[in-house]
Amino acid sequence: MTRKNIQIAIDGPAASGKSTTAKMLAQKLDGLYVNTGEMYRTIAGEALRNNIDPDKEPQKLVKLLDNWTLEYKQLQEKQPLVLLFNGTPVDREYIRSEPVANIVSQTAQIPEVREWMLDKQRDCTKHPLIIMEGRDIGTVVLPNASHKFFITATPEERARRRFAQPGEIQPGTTLEQVAQQIAMRDHIDANRKVAPLKPADDAITIVTDGMTPEQVVDRIIAEINRPRPVEMQYRVPYADTDQMGVVYYANYFVLFERSRNELIRDLGATYKQLEDDGLMLPVIEAKATYHRPARYDDLITVTAQFAKFDGLRLTIKCKVLKDEVLLVEGHTTHVFIKAATGAPTRLQGPLRKLIEDNLIP
Ligand code: DC
Repeated sequence: MTRKNIQIAIDGPAASGKSTTAKMLAQKLDGLYVNTGEMYRTIAGEALRNNIDPDKEPQKLVKLLDNWTLEYKQLQEKQPLVLLFNGTPVDREYIRSEPVANIVSQTAQIPEVREWMLDKQRDCTKHPLIIMEGRDIGTVVLPNASHKFFITATPEERARRRFAQPGEIQPGTTLEQVAQQIAMRDHIDANRKVAPLKPADDAITIVTDGMTPEQVVDRIIAEINRPRPVEMQYRVPYADTDQMGVVYYANYFVLFERSRNELIRDLGATYKQLEDDGLMLPVIEAKATYHRPARYDDLITVTAQFAKFDGLRLTIKCKVLKDEVLLVEGHTTHVFIKAATGAPTRLQGPLRKLIEDNLIP
């Protein structure tokens, strides 16, 4: 996986297991973990300290925001991010206490508070790999996140988990009371006017009942590593464009270049290694089925994906669409040629594995 500015958005309701998952994921991927719930909890905690009821007197709280700073900062290299309120690390025990927990949803539904949070949350994307958890990360905070997950579990399972978790629950609280608190928080979070809790259209939902945190993390990593089609849009450049030309063009420019330069390098191999082992060159076979004509200046979407690899030949499949209508589908097969001799060659060891593991679905 490439390390260039990757953002993984993890949203979901209270006690769904998303914090455990997001933290483990950050450790496994060597990324930085951002918990936006703690940012809202911090502001709820400050409301409490200032004797403000965020539900009844939200504007009193809003007035104070201008005097406050809140940021996730890496105080030391290779260390986790620390949440600083007015420059001081936040007291995590306090923001997780029941009085704070009881007013955090009310705090988080104040539009000005959410607006105030946005640039502070987006600021975290300056780090190369962040795992950000919350309620609206995939939908509002980072709509262009590289990967989006919605982690959830049935209400009963979530109540059981919260009940077993020390800290947020006062001694003597029953499982039923915990279930009620969670249901109330869900209701407020999902029904507020601004940025309600919901999965982004392009999020993958994981229902975690019966799964261990390790299993959830493994599932997420498998999704992140799953080879995905490359999509691009362009206008048909010639009046008499042969649609196979479009397929070829897209394959050549998008995937050939991507595998040769960007992917191979990001996966840790070198261009020299690729040259020594063999160069991928188009085209020994091309086939297309035409469904509709493409016309000059049409805006088309080309979706291409590596489909097959036998160590010598690499096949790229491609679809051309105009709006939702499929115009043409087909494939091209490329062969690796040894740079020195010009003879076809099987791609060697590590590069071959890289392609098999990372490009072929
Ligand atoms: O994830 P958590 O339970 O610590 O979140 C605390 C509260 O903050 C919860 O009521 C929802 C709210 N929240 C939010 O509205 N948007 C976010 N991105 C994160 C949390």
